[in-house]
Amino acid sequence: MTESLRPLIAGNWKMNGSRATTRDLLTALRASLRDSGPAPCDIVVCPPAPHLALAAMETEAVSGIQLGGQDCHTATSGAHTGDVSAAMLVDLGCAYVIVGHSERRADHGEDSATVKAKGQAAIAAGLTAIVCVGETLGERDAGRAVDVVGAQVEASLPGGANAGNTVIAYEPVWAIGTGRTPTGAEIGEIHACVRARLLGRLEDGDRVPILYGGSVKPENAAAILSVPDVNGALVGGASLDAGDFWSICQSCP
Ligand code: 13P
Repeated sequence: MTESLRPLIAGNWKMNGSRATTRDLLTALRASLRDSGPAPCDIVVCPPAPHLALAAMETEAVSGIQLGGQDCHTATSGAHTGDVSAAMLVDLGCAYVIVGHSERRADHGEDSATVKAKGQAAIAAGLTAIVCVGETLGERDAGRAVDVVGAQVEASLPGGANAGNTVIAYEPVWAIGTGRTPTGAEIGEIHACVRARLLGRLEDGDRVPILYGGSVKPENAAAILSVPDVNGALVGGASLDAGDFWSICQSCP
């Protein structure tokens, strides 16, 4: 049903790097695109907020690399020290923003209602929201992964979501940064459940991309990206190595 969706590979750099590594990574990515592009996928990189302006300069006039923020506030502006608004991300040249990453849910106590509000703020500003969901190891071991992720999708889906402004990223918490990944069958089961929820909620739910994230590497990317209803990947650690990230991009079917 979603065979025709163009894959999306997004790199979440998290709280890593410097101005120098940002420049180096994007220089290398530009060279890969020039030498062996165009990529078989859309590519998004999400540097830390302080490096977004530099990243925007480094990717200006480069077709094939888009920018994303790692979080945004629910409000458009105001007294929110340390926070970043969706409009600021747009102003910097971002097209995407990640909301509801499990690290934000855990570190900052963000619940699905907050994630939904952030997604709505992102969409209202003109961004595509990458809405993250995923179960903990305890929830998986208790046989509750499908129910937990389904409930997170229902509660986190922004009002006004459609295939043009929303992406879902399934990231099992226990697979993030651990080198452990679910089996293809386990990923497929969750993605099918997410797809069913999207179809139940949205007219174009068949066209909302569903990414997998959690220890995606060059070695496992092709297998993961060939699972039905996996429309791309949200890559953490491996996105900090330009060669590995490019190799994952090249693994898209
Ligand atoms: P890793 O690829 O390092 O496991 O991180 C995944 C992730 O959290 C991307 O958002």
